[in-house]
Amino acid sequence: MRIEQNYPLLKHNTFGLDVKTKYFVEYENEADLQKLLRDEYFFSQQFWHIGQGSNLVFLGDFDGVIVHSAIRGVEKIRETDGFVWLKAGAGEDWDALVAYSVQNGWGGLENLSLIPGEVGASAVQNIGAYGADAAGCIEEVHACFLETGEKRVFSNPECEYAYRDSFFKKPENKGKYYITHVVYKLSKKPEYRLDYGNIRVEIGDRTATLETVRQAVIAIRESKLPDPKTTGNAGSFFVNPCICTAHYEGLKKHYPDMPNYPVDEETVKVPAAWLIERAGMKGKTSGGAAVYEKQPLVIINRGNASGRDIADLATEICNAVKEKFGIDLQPEVNYI
Ligand code: EPU
Repeated sequence: MRIEQNYPLLKHNTFGLDVKTKYFVEYENEADLQKLLRDEYFFSQQFWHIGQGSNLVFLGDFDGVIVHSAIRGVEKIRETDGFVWLKAGAGEDWDALVAYSVQNGWGGLENLSLIPGEVGASAVQNIGAYGADAAGCIEEVHACFLETGEKRVFSNPECEYAYRDSFFKKPENKGKYYITHVVYKLSKKPEYRLDYGNIRVEIGDRTATLETVRQAVIAIRESKLPDPKTTGNAGSFFVNPCICTAHYEGLKKHYPDMPNYPVDEETVKVPAAWLIERAGMKGKTSGGAAVYEKQPLVIINRGNASGRDIADLATEICNAVKEKFGIDLQPEVNYI
């Protein structure tokens, strides 16, 4: 187990915030995790488990323990004529897993190419993009219950997956389970999902294969979203809000061009990016933070932003959207 004191977190958050934590603990296997969970000092501190830090805003130095999983390994645990089951360690890089599945001709994850993060966090967030989400391929999630150290295997339905939501994100469960492994069911006879956004256009004359779909998604992401290696950001800062149909119908009268995705009879999802742009917030700044010009759902660090700058800008965005549309935007990122 790796334990560091007064440790810089610059490389552990994609916003590129230069903050420190009192302790940083990284476990490489389940035995180390069990050891950590028997440590009374650990439980006397405030603590927070991170993945690649692609969904975090540190508001200042962290006076506690930042925990990180370095459980690695990707193993084929089962195979039939049609499918393979891969078991991946929670600390595996997400996009490396997608690349590996594509190279082997196993379909399911290709539309989720280039999303920053790690396997464990992706199963908590239910990451989604270009018409797919992690839940679509997850068979099981192996987790450890902090209070007792007990191991628990969650089937897909037990994970209660929904749009950017899961059992593990619910307020009553948040932070109470550490994920050790995720099992994915991938198809040897993939069906390509090309109808979302510009995937088909981007593929152009090429034949649709797992590789060309992955390349298309990477090209689209690179053209729309800032690269966290050069411009600090946490991807979508807010989730797309779901509003009741009556509210939507009222807004539609004033804004007939408002994009909308019906969820069920009572609910309509509207793109936060559109609301933010129409509320006049595109390109707005607060200190070192700015609303990204090409995709206003993203807040960027212009180089010298503090966590507070980012939080202030997010509040301004929420207020502007609330005032114009009466909609409460919910941040997808966690403030620490
Ligand atoms: N839009 C604007 N102005 C803009 C950009 C977008 O009005 O400058 C509107 C357009 O109407 C567009 C709509 O927003 O049709 C949707 O935009 P986009 O297709 O880019 O998707 P999104 O809903 O903004 C979601 C995910 C992204 C994911 C994309 C593609 C959420 C919170 N975000 O964004 O996820 O890449 O779809 O599937 O659901 C992330 O999680 O970090 C992330 C980038």
